[in-house]
Amino acid sequence: MNKKIKNICCLGAGYVGGPTMAVIAFKCSHIIVNVVDTNQQRVDAWNANDLNKLPIFEPGLDKIIAETRNKNLFFSTKIEKNISNADIIFISVNTPTKTKGLGAGKASDLKWIELCARQVAKFAIGHTIVIEKSTLPVRTAEVIKQILNESQSKYSVDKEKKTFDILSNPEFLAEGSAIQDLLNPDRVLIGGDNKKAIDSLSEIYENWIVKEKILHTNLWSSELAKLTANAFLAQRISSINTISVLCEKTGANVKQVSKAIGLDHRIGNKFLDAGPGFGGSCFQKDLLNLVYLSESLGLNEVAEYWNQVIEINNWQRKRISKLIIEKLFGTVGGKKIGILGFSFKANTNDTRESSAIQISRDLLEEGAFLIIHDPKVNIKDIEYYLGPNQKRDMQIDSETKGYGCWSFTDNLEKIYQDSDALVVITEWSKYSQIKWDIASKNMRRPGWVFDTRGIINIDEVKKNGLKIWVVGNGEL
Ligand SMILES: NC(=O)c1ccc[n+]([C@@H]2O[C@H](COP(=O)([O-])OP(=O)(O)OC[C@H]3O[C@@H](n4cnc5c(N)ncnc54)[C@H](O)[C@@H]3O)[C@@H](O)[C@H]2O)c1
Repeated sequence: MNKKIKNICCLGAGYVGGPTMAVIAFKCSHIIVNVVDTNQQRVDAWNANDLNKLPIFEPGLDKIIAETRNKNLFFSTKIEKNISNADIIFISVNTPTKTKGLGAGKASDLKWIELCARQVAKFAIGHTIVIEKSTLPVRTAEVIKQILNESQSKYSVDKEKKTFDILSNPEFLAEGSAIQDLLNPDRVLIGGDNKKAIDSLSEIYENWIVKEKILHTNLWSSELAKLTANAFLAQRISSINTISVLCEKTGANVKQVSKAIGLDHRIGNKFLDAGPGFGGSCFQKDLLNLVYLSESLGLNEVAEYWNQVIEINNWQRKRISKLIIEKLFGTVGGKKIGILGFSFKANTNDTRESSAIQISRDLLEEGAFLIIHDPKVNIKDIEYYLGPNQKRDMQIDSETKGYGCWSFTDNLEKIYQDSDALVVITEWSKYSQIKWDIASKNMRRPGWVFDTRGIINIDEVKKNGLKIWVVGNGEL
């Protein structure tokens, strides 16, 4: 008989841990779900009475939290106690790219994973199933196994013997549609070698997902499949972005090209939108992981192939910044530029690896005054990437030398006043509804609109006397 799960502990209350556990709690009212985190501020935000203050914005998340929180879903910093009580532990902590030491710039930093394994080793009681939910380099389960096995001799003396099973259960949710993805996933992937443990985990998902969608593989296939899925998705974005520039140079239109190729069922129509380059915490990190793995196995051609996907992404961002500067007569010093959107995509407040960071930095470097708008992003996150929000006078001063400055507004209309250009970086739906007559009246001439997402009504912009450049379509 496989173990019946009554109590879950999830280590890490982030973009994955929070929504994933909320949906499990929502669909499994018979299971107690404890989400724990070392970050007290984040836990407090998950427990906020005002659901607009949750640390993560995801459409539909607030309703699920309202249904489950403090019934069978709990957020706290009580890590030790909740590890001890758990039948099953999900490790959902961050695994960013290493910034120093061996593998810096490529390998994932596994220090948080290792710490979790050590905490589980110390505080787990009896038999515990440990799940890798974080995205991890292939064969990380081996490291976790070793740490847990060592603990059997160290911590089991005079007590009930501790035993562990380790499974890989990578998360495929996409930010911005996380709740829908979790409620109705394309598949759930479980990698492992112990059938009873796999069945225990499957049973949780079977509360709302049909068995046919729950895939069982070995541990290493599961770990590699997650990296591969993200690499393929990122590759499609870089591929279409290389076509976007060909379109701009030849008079083709990338939307028409995407549509024409997407109707081929072998290609499919998803992930074919040209844009300012992919962002988010995962694509680049997981590609780098694949590059590192390939290099460490001596597969340099494979490493180079995947590395090129990242190179193209960086190039797309740089070419957009350069193009904006060129169109504004080769200088943006002292010019006011509105940045529309700072999150890496619509419907999320996540700014990690957002293309807005690089494009803003490039424009600041050239002395621009940026006024940034985003409906969900916290100003502190922008500050983290662009430096302090200097309260310098934002008046137009063409003599201004040196590094530019930025300010933030959540009032879209404020962004138009005296702007030389507006740059659409995130595809928030409100940007496609901009009233161009109002924007145009308030902007300086020649007023430019740079649409890096292809969501703006071109005719309206032109009708109101502004100039427009659209990714994959060029100056129109
Ligand atoms: N964000 C996504 O869309 C996404 C999708 C699929 C997979 N993933 C993967 O999931 C993992 C988590 O990503 P995320 O975006 O949720 O990260 P995140 O940074 O939002 O959250 C991680 C959380 O773990 C906490 N933490 C760190 N060490 C801890 C410990 N020892 N005990 C308890 N909590 C601890 C941190 O304080 C943080 O709140 C990563 O490996 C990522 O690659 C992310």
